[in-house]
Amino acid sequence: MLVLAGGMAASAQTADQAWLRYDGSHSRILIPLQVRALGVGALEKSGVQELQRSLPSISGAGLTASVKQIFDGETIIGTVEEMRRAFPELPVPTDLESEGYWIYSWRNATGDQALIIAGADQPGVLYGVFALLRILAGSEAINLHDYPLRSHPAMPIRWVDEWDNPDGTIERGYAGRSIFFEGGNVREDLTAAGEYARLLASVGINGCNINNVNAAPELIDSEHLQQVARIADAMRPWGVRIALSVAFASPQKIGGLTTYDPADPAVKAWWAAKVNEIYTLIPDFAGFTVKADSEDQPGPASFGRTPADAANTLAAALAPHGGVVLYRAFVYNHHLNWLDPKADRARAAYDIFHTLDGAFAPNVVVQTKEGPIDFQAQEPVSPLFAGLRQTSQAMEIEITQEYTGQQRHLVYLAPMWKWVLDFDLRAGDRSTPVKEIIAGKSFHQPLGGMVAVAGIGRDGWLGSPLALANLYAFGRLAWNPNLTPDEIAAEWTRQTISNDDAVVGTVTRMLMQSWPAYVNYTGPLGIQTLTDITGSHYGPNIESSENNGWGQWHRADHLGVGMDRSVKTGTGYSGQYPPEVAKLNENLATTPDNLLLFFHHVPYTYKLHSGQSVIQYIYDSHYEGAAQAAQFARDWAMLEGSIDQPLYEQVRDRLRYQAGHAIVWRDAIVQYFLKLSGIPDEKARAGHYPDRLEAEDARLTGYKIIDVTPWEDASGGKAVSCDEPQIPPPGNVWKPFCKAEWTWTGEKGLYDIAVQYFDLQSGNAKFFLEQNGMIRLGPMGLWWTADAMLPSTRPHGDNSTRHLIRGVWLNPGDVIGIRGIPDGNDRATLDYIEVTPAQHNRELMTDLTCSEGEQIKDLKNAEEAWEMPVGPNLAGWAGETNVGTPIEGMLVELFHPGDKSPIATTRTNEEGGFRFPGLAPGRYRVKASGVVESGADAIVRLDPAAKAQLCLVVE
Ligand code: GCU
Repeated sequence: MLVLAGGMAASAQTADQAWLRYDGSHSRILIPLQVRALGVGALEKSGVQELQRSLPSISGAGLTASVKQIFDGETIIGTVEEMRRAFPELPVPTDLESEGYWIYSWRNATGDQALIIAGADQPGVLYGVFALLRILAGSEAINLHDYPLRSHPAMPIRWVDEWDNPDGTIERGYAGRSIFFEGGNVREDLTAAGEYARLLASVGINGCNINNVNAAPELIDSEHLQQVARIADAMRPWGVRIALSVAFASPQKIGGLTTYDPADPAVKAWWAAKVNEIYTLIPDFAGFTVKADSEDQPGPASFGRTPADAANTLAAALAPHGGVVLYRAFVYNHHLNWLDPKADRARAAYDIFHTLDGAFAPNVVVQTKEGPIDFQAQEPVSPLFAGLRQTSQAMEIEITQEYTGQQRHLVYLAPMWKWVLDFDLRAGDRSTPVKEIIAGKSFHQPLGGMVAVAGIGRDGWLGSPLALANLYAFGRLAWNPNLTPDEIAAEWTRQTISNDDAVVGTVTRMLMQSWPAYVNYTGPLGIQTLTDITGSHYGPNIESSENNGWGQWHRADHLGVGMDRSVKTGTGYSGQYPPEVAKLNENLATTPDNLLLFFHHVPYTYKLHSGQSVIQYIYDSHYEGAAQAAQFARDWAMLEGSIDQPLYEQVRDRLRYQAGHAIVWRDAIVQYFLKLSGIPDEKARAGHYPDRLEAEDARLTGYKIIDVTPWEDASGGKAVSCDEPQIPPPGNVWKPFCKAEWTWTGEKGLYDIAVQYFDLQSGNAKFFLEQNGMIRLGPMGLWWTADAMLPSTRPHGDNSTRHLIRGVWLNPGDVIGIRGIPDGNDRATLDYIEVTPAQHNRELMTDLTCSEGEQIKDLKNAEEAWEMPVGPNLAGWAGETNVGTPIEGMLVELFHPGDKSPIATTRTNEEGGFRFPGLAPGRYRVKASGVVESGADAIVRLDPAAKAQLCLVVE
């Protein structure tokens, strides 16, 4: 059973469920527990609260409370002004930048000691508090006396956008319902909003736009504004100012005017009055975000006005109050003519906005998505960043994984963002990396920043524990774009999962590999995410982007693939970049491989810089990506026992699902391009599935063969649907069912059976594996239920799901059967089964030979012990002798040689794996005992007849 939704939703949602856990496993540093603020500001109060909440458990971890109390001194927080007044002799910096902080360990002339957290202003104090807590969670000792800590944000605007609707749904949200709205109104209980603000403040995020850019006009009517003010109240203690997306047609829609022309005096007056009303309720209101003339949203174009006219009207209303307008450059025509080789959506933002450079009011910021299309898994950097030199700019990115696996796939996006931030656009033939442009530095602009569409909801914030690394990374990069994605990943892991170096190493590695893996198995070479563009944006659907006006074309035909965006022969898009970058992308030979198909249409035989042909790269990268996804599940399995068990299980289930869905992606794209190009895979994988038994080739009872659309989303384009289920005789316990059966013609042996089926939203079908007409007991019991919350109510790549049954002994002539019990419109649709020799955590368990550096041990009796040198980690796998079925629940104990009681004990996990991390190098004795009784649930019984082997690896 796949549990991909739910979980944390029922209990109160707090920031502790993300990275603010303070579980006491952290610091070796003693921080004075007496905390006081010099000022009375709300943010200082929050800072004191946060320290009081956390310090007792993290300061001097391992010491008793009384010892900690004896430690004298105070932790004192306040603004630099307050510090200077209270302690004239304290060397407070005089030039601390806005929102910056300074942390200093101080011993005064009389020997009193204090830890000082000084902020340039109120937010600076709070950010200093969180910075200290972050450092305490790190692994390194610090000397805050000789090396005071000082930092300030790189850019002033660091906002999250929540695309929440008043009815409680969230556009492109994958974490349940809104924390702000329900049933058309602001929620009564805004505790989660306050906790969210706390989380945001902890990484320096200072603004939150609370509603969908496809804005509901009524949210700024007087009644709703009263309610919205409560959200501002909930977030204010954490220095998070709220903003609103506004419908540009509001003056007409809710204001009763006949027009919303931004040049009309009545419209201008309406906005001014509306803004005044907002500021009486929300004095620190941050501003407006505007989506206009885009995807059917009304805008200034209806009146022949420009985005600058529109933005400036709103800006004029906001300026007296210090508010800003974030005007989105995501303006394009989605009714393009796909037959026109010059038409190109990628050109739109630059074409529309760069001519307006200099026309925007000083409190307008043009907000541009990182790439020219729309949050694809891989795109070039938007040329508009270099096209606006007299305009403040913000870069918009997406935390919510709209095109990158919707949180069901592990995709840590910081490496992609970092690539964009570091990209040097060479405007004016000098160094102008995006991070400096959006910070306002390159072109000396007053404002600028980063905005991330977060998609926070009530289901564990982002619906998936590891996805929170993206929210964390966004805040950290917006504060300091020079941080590296791996140091951020490690920081997050230490605070969220474990401070153990081995765990941090594993999780960081997984996070770092996840985006390249996703690009590999979805859409490599800059072709964009080959997903269902006009639908869910989730599973594969390669042609969905073609032959329509949306313009996310890749132009694949039987000869070649890619879109010609060169100036010479294509749409001219490459010419929108400053000359050096333009030149690079204009020429086939110099275009980087990873963006080749974005800029050029090439034959499948075109040779990449790597020497590989494009078609072979498509095959190879998809196989590699799916293998990487499978490896994540194995990497994670090694962490069992070292981390929180519910977290372990939740992520394990997701990673298993991802490994299966990566295969769906791989096969869809590989078989599509094999058919289209007619060029075989040099490695003979594409189109050859020797282990697969197709459902349409099975003996079917009740099941009917159907075509799946798009065809590439099913193996061979077909599946079977339980349309005419067998009705069991009266009195029989069975529900109506269908069956697909195959006779095993392979060798006798132990196999894993993967069952590929479609898990539709419209019911919870059940599946059983049968062998020779008998139901087999699987690890999950008798059956599994197709009850995951995947998009779509018809079978295709969005919901094609893999269920793996391990360790089935097959003899030639055996009948393998899958029995499906449909439920509602979920017709227990089946694609194929794949029967492969049993694999375990590592291939080595199959043939029972350990790889180099590993030692194999026989466990002939119920108990066995060996002495061996290990350290710092000892890991291993237990499997049945000769067949290699993993043994779960075996007791493994570790001793100092000669000792009677173990220094550590653990049990092997479902994969047969175990691990003792962080050992001091030396000799140890390992003892393994017990075998799980077949089918029993974690009950271990000593079985004298047990034949098991243990493979040990010293790390
Ligand atoms: C994407 C997304 C939409 C969203 C739009 C936007 O197209 O799919 O849901 O409204 O971006 O950013 O405005």
